[in-house]
Amino acid sequence: MLTKDAAATAVATPPMKSDSFQKGAAVKTSAAKSLQIYIDGEFFDQADAKISVFDHGLLYGDGIFEGIRFYNGRVFRMQEHMDRLWESARSICLEIPISRPEMDEALLETIRQNDLRDGYVRLIVTRGVGNLGLNPAQCKQPSVIIIAATIALYPEEIYQRGLTVVTVATRRMGPATLNPAIKSLNYLNNVLARIEANLANADEALMLNDAGNVAECTADNVFIVKRGQIMTPPITAGALRGITRSVVFDIAHELGIPISEPELTRHDIYIADEAFLTGTAAEVIPMIKVDGRPIGNGKPGEITNRTIARFRELTRESGTPIFSE
Ligand SMILES: Cc1ncc(COP(=O)(O)O)c(C=O)c1O
Repeated sequence: MLTKDAAATAVATPPMKSDSFQKGAAVKTSAAKSLQIYIDGEFFDQADAKISVFDHGLLYGDGIFEGIRFYNGRVFRMQEHMDRLWESARSICLEIPISRPEMDEALLETIRQNDLRDGYVRLIVTRGVGNLGLNPAQCKQPSVIIIAATIALYPEEIYQRGLTVVTVATRRMGPATLNPAIKSLNYLNNVLARIEANLANADEALMLNDAGNVAECTADNVFIVKRGQIMTPPITAGALRGITRSVVFDIAHELGIPISEPELTRHDIYIADEAFLTGTAAEVIPMIKVDGRPIGNGKPGEITNRTIARFRELTRESGTPIFSE
C-alpha cells in the first residue's frame, strides 16, 4: 500500500548567500544535499535546526501550520495560504511575530536558499517556549519555522488508477471541540484515523463527523460527482477550508460544471458516479473504491480527469515568482 507522507525527502544544493537574512552560527556551508531551515530569521543546516523542548508546539501541539506547494519556480496560491495561516492564528489568539510581507519574503527566501524550483514548503508558527504548564500566557515569543524540500508525491500510476479508501471509526472532531477549520499543530485526530487506514491496508481514511456525515479524509477534502454535478461537504461538516478545494471551485465555474456543498453521507459516496480527493500534497486525485464498493465503474471518471488536467495547467501557469524573472 501507499505511504503518502508529504514530509519529503529533501534534495537541495548548498545554500546561497543572501543579505536579508542572518545565517545561524551552526550552518555548514559545505554540506551538500542538506536543507537550509529558517528559524526565527536565521538559516540553519537541517542537522542543527532545533527548537526548545519547552516549546508548547511540542508539548501541547499549540501552534499552526501551512503546507504550500511551488511549481516551476512559482508558489501556488501563496496569498490564500497566508490568509489561512493568519486566520488560524487569530482563532487561537497567537500573535505571529513577523508581518505578512516579512513572512512572504521569509518563505520565498527559504526556497531560494535551497535552490529549489519545484517542491513543498512547511510553514510553522509555534506558541513558543513556556513552562511545563499548558497556559499559553507563559509563552512570550512565538517561533516561525520554514522548511522547503522536494516532495514524495503519489506516483503518476495512482493518478491513473485511483485510491482505495475506508471509513474509519475515529470521528472528525466537531467545530465545538477543536474546529477542523483551524490548521493547528494538533493532528492526533487525523493521525489516529490514518493508523486505522494503515491497519486496513487502505490508501486513505474517510472521516465522518459526530452526526455520521462525511467530513473529510486525514489530509484531504472529499468530492463526489453525481449526474454531472460536483459536490463536497460544507466546512461546517468538519472539513478544512482547503486551498485545493477552492481551486476545484474555480475550475468547476470555469468549466461550467455545477458545484455545491450539501451534507453527504456514506451512501452518497457509494452511489456517486465519480469521486476524488484534494490537498496540497495529493493535489487532485481520484478515489475509486470506498469500503470495498467501487465508485461508478471503478475507474477515474471524466470530470475528475478534466479537473486534474486543468489543475495541473494552473500549477504550471500561475503563482508568485520565487526568483527574479
Ligand atoms: C485535514 C485536512 N483536510 C484537508 C486538507 C487539504 O487542504 P489544502 O488543499 O489546503 O492542502 C488538508 C491539507 O493540509 C488537511 O490537513
